[in-house]
Amino acid sequence: MKSKALIELLSDGQVHSGAALAEKLGVSRTAIWKQIRRAMEEGADIATIRGRGYQLVSRVDLLDRARVLREIAAGREQELSLTVLDEVDSTNAEVIRQINAGSKGVPVAIADCQTSGRGRRGRVWQSPRGENLYLSMGLTFHGGFGVLDGLSLVLGVAVANALERLGVPEVGLKWPNDIFLPDGKLGGILVELQGELEEGVVQVIAGIGLNVHMSRADGVDQPWSSLARACPQVGWSRSQIGGAIIDAVFDAVALFSDIGFADFRESWQRRDVFMGKSLKARGGDVEGVGCGIDDAGNYQIRTENGLVPVRAGEISLRVAK
Ligand code: BTN
Repeated sequence: MKSKALIELLSDGQVHSGAALAEKLGVSRTAIWKQIRRAMEEGADIATIRGRGYQLVSRVDLLDRARVLREIAAGREQELSLTVLDEVDSTNAEVIRQINAGSKGVPVAIADCQTSGRGRRGRVWQSPRGENLYLSMGLTFHGGFGVLDGLSLVLGVAVANALERLGVPEVGLKWPNDIFLPDGKLGGILVELQGELEEGVVQVIAGIGLNVHMSRADGVDQPWSSLARACPQVGWSRSQIGGAIIDAVFDAVALFSDIGFADFRESWQRRDVFMGKSLKARGGDVEGVGCGIDDAGNYQIRTENGLVPVRAGEISLRVAK
């Protein structure tokens, strides 16, 4: 956001005169007026108060690097290479660029907005400025692609853990990669893989999108939720949520690298939104009742002929109507 410094000055919600803003930012009053116009074009809600100045009407929750880092366990900061961006095409794409440029440490990118946010199955992920969380991490695993079984579910558990620590009740997980609240989808995880750059070394780009302040969602074709909707009494900070999720992903990935998926099965299962529901998979060929995941992270449907495992990426599950 070109007017980020201006928005930060206005973020106390008080009225600021053009002259005072110009002095603080070291620019002319005309430049301030232009920045106000640009900020409004970018979605900021700023009132012009005749004879007095400008006031930010609704809070803009822009990212603050120090606030992100405050949530991350002491000592861990050195292990990551954190990039906080005003705007980016996609934080996943940014992390891939950083990996290809030989990033030192775990590359982590978090942005105020994405211009080409990507969702699963080639969908567009709407990423308006300052509204939601757009976060990606580049994770390295040793042992080839075979060690990744269940990883995307582990990431879901990590996000759910972080949200619960922040006080969000009833966080659910929808197989394979969605984060749910009782009234709908809260977020999703896009896992992308980079080939083996060295033998047995696999790079996973974990992209997490989470609805934070979202109050409307044009063109979204399924029930959705946001943290502000679910817990309106909390003054949500995207930086705090981002930091908490980064830290939780570090914890979960360390455990997963040590002992694999087995220890996560129960943590995933108790948040399973499909458990006990009538489900259809493989275009209706498999029909039965949701029964949780197996040790490899496949979803199991209890059918008339017994348990049928459904592999991630193979098909989508639907609640039978
Ligand atoms: C889904 O379709 O449910 C997954 C959506 C993942 C969106 C996130 S936002 C941060 C990261 N960057 C992207 O371009 N996509 C992921």
